[in-house]
Amino acid sequence: MLGIDHVGIAVPDLDAGQAPYAALGVRSVEDEEVPDQGVRVRLLDTGAGTIELLAPLAADTPVGRFLASRGPGLHHLAFRVADVRHALEAAVSSGLRPIDVVPRPGRAGSRVAFLHPRSVGGVLIELVEPASGAVRP
Ligand code: CO
Repeated sequence: MLGIDHVGIAVPDLDAGQAPYAALGVRSVEDEEVPDQGVRVRLLDTGAGTIELLAPLAADTPVGRFLASRGPGLHHLAFRVADVRHALEAAVSSGLRPIDVVPRPGRAGSRVAFLHPRSVGGVLIELVEPASGAVRP
Protein backbone atom coordinates (compact mmCIF):
# COMPACT_ATOMS: atom_id res chain seq x y z
CA MET A 1 0.00 0.00 0.00
CA LEU A 2 1.57 3.23 -1.19
CA GLY A 3 -1.25 5.69 -0.52
CA ILE A 4 -4.13 7.23 -2.43
CA ASP A 5 -3.36 7.38 -6.15
CA HIS A 6 -6.39 9.34 -7.34
CA VAL A 7 -10.09 9.99 -6.94
CA GLY A 8 -12.31 9.11 -9.90
CA ILE A 9 -15.27 11.36 -10.75
CA ALA A 10 -17.83 10.47 -13.43
CA VAL A 11 -18.90 13.27 -15.77
CA PRO A 12 -20.95 13.26 -18.99
CA ASP A 13 -18.48 15.63 -20.67
CA LEU A 14 -14.85 16.33 -19.80
CA ASP A 15 -14.83 20.05 -20.61
CA ALA A 16 -18.06 20.80 -18.74
CA GLY A 17 -17.03 18.45 -15.95
CA GLN A 18 -13.68 20.15 -15.55
CA ALA A 19 -15.11 23.67 -15.25
CA PRO A 20 -15.83 23.69 -11.50
CA TYR A 21 -12.36 22.32 -10.72
CA ALA A 22 -10.74 24.92 -12.98
CA ALA A 23 -12.67 27.53 -11.00
CA LEU A 24 -11.02 26.12 -7.88
CA GLY A 25 -7.58 26.49 -9.48
CA VAL A 26 -7.08 22.82 -10.31
CA ARG A 27 -5.24 22.45 -13.59
CA SER A 28 -5.66 19.85 -16.27
CA VAL A 29 -2.64 17.65 -16.98
CA GLU A 30 -3.55 15.31 -19.82
CA ASP A 31 -6.27 13.29 -21.50
CA GLU A 32 -6.11 9.61 -22.26
CA GLU A 33 -8.53 7.10 -23.66
CA VAL A 34 -8.77 3.75 -21.88
CA PRO A 35 -10.77 1.61 -24.32
CA ASP A 36 -10.60 -1.40 -22.01
CA GLN A 37 -12.67 0.53 -19.45
CA GLY A 38 -14.81 2.38 -22.00
CA VAL A 39 -13.74 5.82 -20.83
CA ARG A 40 -11.89 8.93 -21.82
CA VAL A 41 -9.93 10.21 -18.81
CA ARG A 42 -8.77 13.73 -17.97
CA LEU A 43 -6.24 14.02 -15.18
CA LEU A 44 -6.41 17.06 -12.93
CA ASP A 45 -3.50 17.99 -10.69
CA THR A 46 -4.55 19.49 -7.36
CA GLY A 47 -0.95 20.06 -6.30
CA ALA A 48 -1.00 17.16 -3.84
CA GLY A 49 -3.21 14.54 -5.39
CA THR A 50 -4.80 13.64 -8.68
CA ILE A 51 -8.42 13.73 -9.78
CA GLU A 52 -9.43 11.48 -12.66
CA LEU A 53 -12.44 12.80 -14.57
CA LEU A 54 -14.13 9.91 -16.39
CA ALA A 55 -16.39 10.41 -19.39
CA PRO A 56 -17.94 7.34 -21.01
CA LEU A 57 -17.09 6.43 -24.61
CA ALA A 58 -20.61 5.00 -24.96
CA ALA A 59 -23.79 4.65 -22.91
CA ASP A 60 -23.28 0.90 -22.58
CA THR A 61 -20.10 1.09 -20.52
CA PRO A 62 -19.64 0.92 -16.74
CA VAL A 63 -19.31 4.70 -16.41
CA GLY A 64 -22.17 5.25 -18.89
CA ARG A 65 -24.43 3.04 -16.78
CA PHE A 66 -23.22 4.74 -13.59
CA LEU A 67 -24.18 8.16 -14.99
CA ALA A 68 -27.57 6.88 -16.13
CA SER A 69 -28.42 5.46 -12.72
CA ARG A 70 -26.75 7.91 -10.33
CA GLY A 71 -25.77 10.97 -12.31
CA PRO A 72 -22.38 12.70 -12.18
CA GLY A 73 -20.27 12.51 -9.04
CA LEU A 74 -17.74 10.53 -7.05
CA HIS A 75 -17.13 7.22 -8.81
CA HIS A 76 -14.15 5.47 -7.23
CA LEU A 77 -11.19 5.76 -4.89
CA ALA A 78 -7.86 4.43 -6.15
CA PHE A 79 -5.03 3.18 -3.99
CA ARG A 80 -1.50 2.91 -5.35
CA VAL A 81 0.15 -0.44 -4.65
CA ALA A 82 3.54 -1.90 -5.45
CA ASP A 83 2.15 -5.20 -6.80
CA VAL A 84 -1.48 -5.21 -7.93
CA ARG A 85 -1.69 -8.98 -8.27
CA HIS A 86 -0.48 -9.45 -4.70
CA ALA A 87 -2.72 -6.66 -3.37
CA LEU A 88 -5.76 -8.17 -5.13
CA GLU A 89 -5.04 -11.64 -3.76
CA ALA A 90 -4.59 -10.23 -0.25
CA ALA A 91 -7.87 -8.28 -0.48
CA VAL A 92 -9.80 -11.30 -1.74
CA SER A 93 -8.32 -13.60 0.89
CA SER A 94 -9.44 -11.05 3.49
CA GLY A 95 -13.01 -11.34 2.24
CA LEU A 96 -13.32 -8.42 -0.18
CA ARG A 97 -15.17 -9.14 -3.40
CA PRO A 98 -13.26 -8.60 -6.64
CA ILE A 99 -14.71 -7.18 -9.83
CA ASP A 100 -11.52 -8.17 -11.64
CA VAL A 101 -10.28 -11.68 -10.93
CA VAL A 102 -6.99 -10.80 -12.58
CA PRO A 103 -5.48 -7.31 -13.05
CA ARG A 104 -6.10 -5.55 -16.37
CA PRO A 105 -4.48 -2.69 -18.28
CA GLY A 106 -5.11 0.76 -16.86
CA ARG A 107 -4.11 4.27 -17.80
CA ALA A 108 -0.51 5.08 -18.77
CA GLY A 109 0.74 1.52 -18.76
CA SER A 110 -0.51 0.80 -15.25
CA ARG A 111 -2.12 -2.43 -14.11
CA VAL A 112 -5.38 -2.10 -12.19
CA ALA A 113 -8.02 -4.18 -10.43
CA PHE A 114 -11.36 -3.10 -8.98
CA LEU A 115 -13.08 -4.31 -5.81
CA HIS A 116 -16.86 -4.40 -5.53
CA PRO A 117 -18.40 -1.50 -3.59
CA ARG A 118 -20.77 -3.85 -1.75
CA SER A 119 -17.79 -5.38 0.03
CA VAL A 120 -16.14 -2.01 0.79
CA GLY A 121 -18.91 -0.04 2.47
CA GLY A 122 -20.34 1.34 -0.75
CA VAL A 123 -17.06 2.58 -2.23
CA LEU A 124 -15.74 1.28 -5.54
CA ILE A 125 -12.03 0.67 -4.95
CA GLU A 126 -9.36 0.60 -7.64
CA LEU A 127 -5.92 -0.85 -6.95
CA VAL A 128 -3.26 0.70 -9.21
CA GLU A 129 0.24 -0.54 -9.87
CA PRO A 130 1.92 2.25 -11.89
CA ALA A 131 4.01 1.35 -14.91
CA SER A 132 7.52 0.60 -13.74
CA GLY A 133 9.59 3.76 -13.71
CA ALA A 134 6.54 5.91 -14.41
CA VAL A 135 6.64 9.45 -13.05
CA ARG A 136 3.17 10.55 -12.03
CA PRO A 137 1.92 14.13 -12.05
CO1 CO B 1 -9.18 5.31 -11.62
